[in-house]
Amino acid sequence: MEKEKKSYGVHILVLPYPSQGHINPMLQFSRRLVSKGVKATLATPIFISKTFKPQAGSVQLDTISDGFDEGGFMQAESIHEYLTQLEAAGSRTLAQLIQKHRDLGHPFDCIVYDAFLPWVLDVAKQFGLVGAAFFTQTCAVNYIYYHAYHGLLPLPVKSTPVSIPGLPLLELRDMPSFIYVAGSYPAYFQLVLNQFCNVHKADWVLVNTFYKLEEEVVDAMAKLSPLITIGPTIPSKYLDNRLENEAEYGFDLFSSEPSAHTINWLDNKPTRSVIYVSFGSMACLSEAQMEELAWGLKGSGHYFLWVVRDSEEAKLPKHFIHETSGKGWFVKWSPQLEVLANEAVGCFFTHCGWNSTVEALSLGVPMVGMPQWTDQTTDAKFVEDVWKVGIRVRVDENGIVGRKEVEDCIREVMEGERGKAMKENAKKWRKSAVEAVSEGGTSDKNIDEFVAKLIISS
Ligand code: UDX
Repeated sequence: MEKEKKSYGVHILVLPYPSQGHINPMLQFSRRLVSKGVKATLATPIFISKTFKPQAGSVQLDTISDGFDEGGFMQAESIHEYLTQLEAAGSRTLAQLIQKHRDLGHPFDCIVYDAFLPWVLDVAKQFGLVGAAFFTQTCAVNYIYYHAYHGLLPLPVKSTPVSIPGLPLLELRDMPSFIYVAGSYPAYFQLVLNQFCNVHKADWVLVNTFYKLEEEVVDAMAKLSPLITIGPTIPSKYLDNRLENEAEYGFDLFSSEPSAHTINWLDNKPTRSVIYVSFGSMACLSEAQMEELAWGLKGSGHYFLWVVRDSEEAKLPKHFIHETSGKGWFVKWSPQLEVLANEAVGCFFTHCGWNSTVEALSLGVPMVGMPQWTDQTTDAKFVEDVWKVGIRVRVDENGIVGRKEVEDCIREVMEGERGKAMKENAKKWRKSAVEAVSEGGTSDKNIDEFVAKLIISS
């Protein structure tokens, strides 16, 4: 897997969309590039850069401006205002950053940019740099957006199931939420569609997935663009239990209790006895939903480790933490990969954000999917029906997942016959994920080819 190689003169700038779920995979990809012998610099907006842990790492860090240097996204009045400023200030300061590195004698050869930021490609081309679009979500989701962008999927969708080459038949609830909840989050919907406004000019299209996982849709989409799969972007130490350089930094926008307490709690639990519950960095549940989830978890009778972010804490039923002490462990943010890699974890109750999903797949953990919005609905469809590594909860007529449903789904995964098959499938997907990024695997070969071409053209 990742091993030190001769250092070539190539320098790659990596530019993620500034959120946890986008920086994580692009930071890990940067580290993989460094392991292939090239130099990588990851740039984030100034506000985000303040949250990076200060230890030296193999990836250099630098900054651009999103126009909100003091407060980042929270300082903006709307998503629309943030995105407009991000493009305006981002383009200007990105050009300055490229020039600065030229002047200092370590110019960039290529920019790997988040497909959410298509304007980066325009700046890259002004400077004559290679541009590689990086899609952080699944190929399936992006192929659906591709169809919507090109008018091949007329909106709103009027008849189902929808048939798209390379994908299973999709009901409305299997579509990304921006499509099935007409008119929801228009600024975000525009953002995901705009990924395709200039992608045909990109030199490369990199997708954070692996070939076996999405074979048919990868083949279908690769006919339209120079697409390669490069995932999963999970650090090697979680895939082959090899210790990596401990000085490498992680990136967390959220403060948390010391990880050691959580891992210690897990270490004292029987194998596969704990449900890990987390909804990523953005999802907000209603108070009624938090209540049902809480009683469902308690009712399941299993141990649970629940990430309840600061913004969610007040929604927990009164005295719930106290009442479940002994069975439940609550944190504001967890070391998720370490948790999923721990043998005590038997099931991941997840919102099916793509990072969480691919992390669970790669670590062989079956899931209960409770998708909230964006790509999560489609990911949940694949988890249940295509990869068969989990169950998707059913929402009642009030739009809530009731406590009995929570309890039943957990029981099915932890104790049921279907659960046994899911565990076997989860092991199989873990093996495929490890193979993809191991030396000679599909993703590893693709990354080698990407780097080799940059070396030749630099
Ligand atoms: C968002 C979208 O919601 C998601 O659907 C999309 O695919 C990417 O952007 P987010 O909601 O944060 O991301 O979910 P997810 O994609 O799962 O990313 C969360 C990341 O934070 C994961 O890498 C996970 O390991 C990490 N995490 C989460 C922690 O390290 N600790 C936690 O307690 C929770």
